[in-house]
Amino acid sequence: MSSGFDPAPAFTHEPVLLRESLEALAIKPDGLYVDATLGAGGHAAHIAQRLTTGRLFGIDRDPEALRRAVQTLAPFEGRVVLLHGDYRNLDSLLPDGTRPDGVLFDLGVSSPQFDDPARGFSYRYDTRLDMRMNPNDPISAYEVVNQWPPEELRRILWAYGEEEYAPLIAAALIRRRAEAPIETTGQLAELVTRALPPKARRRKGHPAKQCFQALRMAVNDELAGIREGLRAAIGLLKPGGRLAAISFHSVEDRAVKTTLAEAARGCTCPPDFPVCVCGKTPLIALVTRKPLTAAPAELEQNRRAHSAKLRVAEKI
Ligand SMILES: C[S@@+](CC[C@H](N)C(=O)[O-])C[C@H]1O[C@@H](n2cnc3c(N)ncnc32)[C@H](O)[C@@H]1O
Repeated sequence: MSSGFDPAPAFTHEPVLLRESLEALAIKPDGLYVDATLGAGGHAAHIAQRLTTGRLFGIDRDPEALRRAVQTLAPFEGRVVLLHGDYRNLDSLLPDGTRPDGVLFDLGVSSPQFDDPARGFSYRYDTRLDMRMNPNDPISAYEVVNQWPPEELRRILWAYGEEEYAPLIAAALIRRRAEAPIETTGQLAELVTRALPPKARRRKGHPAKQCFQALRMAVNDELAGIREGLRAAIGLLKPGGRLAAISFHSVEDRAVKTTLAEAARGCTCPPDFPVCVCGKTPLIALVTRKPLTAAPAELEQNRRAHSAKLRVAEKI
């Protein structure tokens, strides 16, 4: 689907599941929308373009993303308000009384963050371990790798990276940091690769991919953030308002799925209770039971679309 809008070439970034997320949000020209993960402003530009008297609030915890988005969204001045902050604080970030018609979450890191060696997200470069989405946050990957206790390292590698060799990797990190701090992404990638058994070194993608994912999620406390952010959005949405959430790996998708399922559930009393005592009623209806995935045409063009899943819900 053509949007009729061409962002400035320097900021071209192909938003994932664009058509599907715009349809999911069912954008009204006079509606109020929130892009909780503004990034390079890809989705936001397409939302803003569909507004007349409506408004879009764009949020990102990364000041650099906001700087880019200001330029991408310049053609829509007056329709867009950019806010710096964490989407888990949606309530306090938005002006009092804001009841959005739609909220979009496009989770995880952006390509500009991942592709910037200075941000220390990627094993493709050898730079100082960082991985903070907001460089003002106090804890970077350096502290996690060099200071967190062994059991915490094992836990995050398993829970956030689904790394089956979490104990082996954690043990290798502990041994190595006892001699000298692990300073760079290159040192970490090499250490992790060496810690793995030979068959795991041959697995699909970089052998340290899951470890890097786990660290990134720990540094940015992403899992708790997803749950809190989605709940905040559900609380704020107008009746009939839409929530759309795009995830990129199974840990993220599970957090989205379970948070939405919990909000869509009514009474949670045990089945043998004669009457409901919990008083819980569903807050949302699930629009997608199974997540939407990218169409073949998008898969051909956009590598990131391969793992993308979109879940949609409507406020009751
Ligand atoms: C995948 S990118 C979004 C890309 C965007 N939809 C686009 O089309 O350009 C995710 C963005 O969400 C931001 N982000 C991640 N977690 C956040 C949080 N808890 N609060 C606010 N922003 C967050 C990241 O900094 C990143 O810029």
